[in-house]
Amino acid sequence: MKVAIIGPGRVGTLLAVAAARAGMRVVAIAGGAETAREHLRSIVAGVRSYAEVASATQGAELVLLCVPDGAIADVAKALARDGAVGEGHRVVHVAGSLGLEPLRQVALTGAGVAACHPAMTVPTGATDPDLLVGVAWGVTATGSNLGWAQELVTDLGGDPFPIPEDARVLYHAGLAVGSNAVGAAVATARRLLMAARIDRPDRFLAPLIERSVANVLDQGAQALTGPVIRGDVGTVATHLEVIDRDVPELSAAYRALAEATLAPVRVTMDPTILAELDRLLSQTER
Ligand SMILES: NC(=O)c1ccc[n+]([C@@H]2O[C@H](COP(=O)([O-])OP(=O)(O)OC[C@H]3O[C@@H](n4cnc5c(N)ncnc54)[C@H](OP(=O)(O)O)[C@@H]3O)[C@@H](O)[C@H]2O)c1
Repeated sequence: MKVAIIGPGRVGTLLAVAAARAGMRVVAIAGGAETAREHLRSIVAGVRSYAEVASATQGAELVLLCVPDGAIADVAKALARDGAVGEGHRVVHVAGSLGLEPLRQVALTGAGVAACHPAMTVPTGATDPDLLVGVAWGVTATGSNLGWAQELVTDLGGDPFPIPEDARVLYHAGLAVGSNAVGAAVATARRLLMAARIDRPDRFLAPLIERSVANVLDQGAQALTGPVIRGDVGTVATHLEVIDRDVPELSAAYRALAEATLAPVRVTMDPTILAELDRLLSQTER
């Protein structure tokens, strides 16, 4: 399989390495900054570099669009308009919240299309293809495209899961919360411990977070514990009093996270306690 990659950024670079390791031939890299394309060429052998995306698809069977979400539809339209893709090409984008819609013009050319999103955070500079091993990918494709799209994911070390077109946004929202919001909660916890003059917050947080996350992954919201879940109004009130006084910049985050903790137990909680917690959490810091 000969592969052209459009977009030499975080995901484009990692997928180039992963594709090469899977035995595919990465023949072209296009778009983005020349320095980024040269970096990719320095780690994957035999790749030609193109500033113009339409020049990169000649001789490629698979075209991976690894450009920012907002650029996918424009790049796809340009490839279709310029006759750069057609029958014999498979064109894939890797965005989470988008389905096949941005690839509509490409599909009209006779090319196969799919949205294949690795549910993994890929930081700048990541070049170890093991980062993608065992990762779940959300795959949206129709008809015969679903088969090759799933095979592609498997070849890259991932685990494909079909996602309906109309479920992509919620799918991606769930992953954004799972990645970014969990990270934000950990960062908030870390800052609270540092405000308590604990110089190794990781020592307290790592085992606690690992166990808490494992419990919730296993059992869902019923694994949640702590003062909000217990309806311990007095403890929540003292948390808020001291946070509002000593680290008011963390008040909004504490309140938002406590609200999220409360959400799954609202229907079963004593209404008087619930009203008292709602009153505390809706107060803005003084
Ligand atoms: N990073 C992640 O954790 C992650 C995980 C899963 C999926 N994704 C998806 O992967 C895709 C790429 O994300 P990324 O994080 O790799 O972004 P990125 O690091 O910003 O890379 C995007 C690349 O595309 C280039 N580019 C921008 N506009 C272009 C255009 N119109 N034509 C050609 N090239 C263009 C950029 O060049 P310049 O920098 O020079 O503008 C850059 O090289 C997105 O769809 C994203 O949703 C990302």
